Amino acid sequence: MIASRILGTGHYVPDKVVTNFDIMKMMETTDEFIVTRTGVRERRHAEADVSTSDLAVKACQAAVADAGLTMDQIDLLITNTITPDHHDPGWGFFLQPRLGICGGPVMDIKEQCAGLIYGLSIADHYIRAGTYRHVLIACSEVLSKRIDGSYDGRNIGILLGDGAGAVVVGPSDDGETGIRSTILHADGTEAKALYTAAPGTAQGKMDFVDAGDVEAGRVHFRMDGKTVFEHGVAGMSGAALESLEVNGLTLDDIDLLIPHQANLRMLEAVVEKVDIDQEKVFVNVEKFGNIASACLPIALDQARKAGRIKKGNLVLLVAFGSGFVWASALMRM
Ligand SMILES: CC(C)(COP(=O)(O)OP(=O)(O)OC[C@H]1O[C@@H](n2cnc3c(N)ncnc32)[C@H](O)[C@@H]1OP(=O)(O)O)[C@@H](O)C(=O)NCCC(=O)NCCS
Repeated sequence: MIASRILGTGHYVPDKVVTNFDIMKMMETTDEFIVTRTGVRERRHAEADVSTSDLAVKACQAAVADAGLTMDQIDLLITNTITPDHHDPGWGFFLQPRLGICGGPVMDIKEQCAGLIYGLSIADHYIRAGTYRHVLIACSEVLSKRIDGSYDGRNIGILLGDGAGAVVVGPSDDGETGIRSTILHADGTEAKALYTAAPGTAQGKMDFVDAGDVEAGRVHFRMDGKTVFEHGVAGMSGAALESLEVNGLTLDDIDLLIPHQANLRMLEAVVEKVDIDQEKVFVNVEKFGNIASACLPIALDQARKAGRIKKGNLVLLVAFGSGFVWASALMRM
């Protein structure tokens, strides 16, 4: 039976480094608050003329080259972001022509920070079914353009960074390497714990968006930090343990856990709950902040290129995002 595996990874982050002291110029906060509550010390921010697909083009080109393929060998493009180039159509439609792969299918999924794992699950099923051979998954975010420096926006604004990551998935025929499982969950009961009200049709008025929405801050992320924190820890630790159970494995079998880089305190709580050796956990949130869906593919690429992932290693990805959505993917590399 055909399995699917990761053939290549790539990432790109903007050059501009933004420290907590720079963030202090954008809102009322302190370096001490940011470091103690989130662990973030710096993040990258794109320039004004840079879009989500601008970052993604570079990450995709790197991933396809890393896979030893050319763009014309990509059969399906899956894209995910919470910072689209435009409101509609999906940002994947703006990315696709720039990759020179027009005519093939684009799936613009909306799974927030779990986009990579949902994308891997879709890719895995299509490849195992024999429908598509090479699937490119792109997750890119320009979250800096969604920072709201007001009192209501500062709890999330301190976390946000920009960047793009991409992964190429293709067939594995050696009977060893490949995606062992993808476990997907969602529960919309708390969808408003981290959401943006406008533009939208559920505001009880005829306008999709108006000046009042801008004035009242309804166009910005609003987050109930404590609810997100609790569900994030439970979701990511639960999905990690579920992966082990489904595959009949223990923590000893895992070579590297790559969690969504939401914030350091949340990651520490996940590590404690799962009870995994800290050495086996990949963390880059101090230097890059929370880049939503791009966190995981960027971390995966950095871990591979830094030699933290060797051939034959078992790697566990876990993610949690607004919705809520949470997921895990276990792969023999
Ligand atoms: C955001 C987070 C750091 C805030 O910490 P918290 O202890 O839960 O903070 P609260 O929202 O209860 O606010 C506590 C105080 O800190 C203040 N505060 C919030 N953000 C602040 C900031 N950026 N700078 C300074 N003070 C801030 C609040 O105003 C509040 O002050 P008050 O007590 O005078 O009203 C924390 O909730 C968290 O890490 N949540 C998870 C967020 C996350 O990871 N999201 C991404 C998910 S993918």
